[in-house]
Amino acid sequence: MADTPVSKSPAFRAGASLVITAAAAAALIFVMGDAAYLWIKAVHVIAVIAWMAGMLYLPRLFVYHADTPVGSPQSETFKIMEGRLLNYITTPAMVVTWVLGLWLAWRSGFWTAPWLHAKFTLVLVLSGLHGYLSAATRRFREDRNTKPARHWRIINEVPTVLMIGIVILVVVKPF
Ligand code: HEM
Repeated sequence: MADTPVSKSPAFRAGASLVITAAAAAALIFVMGDAAYLWIKAVHVIAVIAWMAGMLYLPRLFVYHADTPVGSPQSETFKIMEGRLLNYITTPAMVVTWVLGLWLAWRSGFWTAPWLHAKFTLVLVLSGLHGYLSAATRRFREDRNTKPARHWRIINEVPTVLMIGIVILVVVKPF
């Protein structure tokens, strides 16, 4: 988008989330030492909730958007909702989840645990899905979506299944 200021671009927001999270985590670790672990885990879980909210709501918006006539006022409203949800909440929350998750893995010593490798694999799939939804948001914005509502209904179930697997792996640590 040629007319989008750099400070509003998705890449800028993701980069800003990365820098702010890293700086805040570094300050917390500097001040609190080992006690920072639980605080960082708490922020990790808060970021996970925000990321998942976006991953569940975005394809739900696509279900309705796919059935809306191109050029209608409703379609234009969906474009604004989807763009804001992705750029203001979902992508920054994913960045924060990753940064803090990697730090927790390093600091806890779970780095070599098989459950973490399995969790990591599911998180990579979830991140790939994030990329897919991000590309779909762009296609909807340019009125180029070709997928029916049924497709988005099916996609809507995928993050739920991944989330269940990820949470069981990290809480139960079954292997
Ligand atoms: C981006 C890659 C991620 C890495 C490397 C990572 C790694 C970790 C690590 C090492 C812990 C600490 C475990 C402990 O102290 O027992 C943790 C906690 C947690 N993670 Fe992640 N995580 C990531 C993403 C996610 C995602 C996507 C979800 C959910 C969809 C998630 C959900 C949780 C939950 C619920 C906890 C708290 C578990 C507990 O305290 O029992 N994480 N994560």
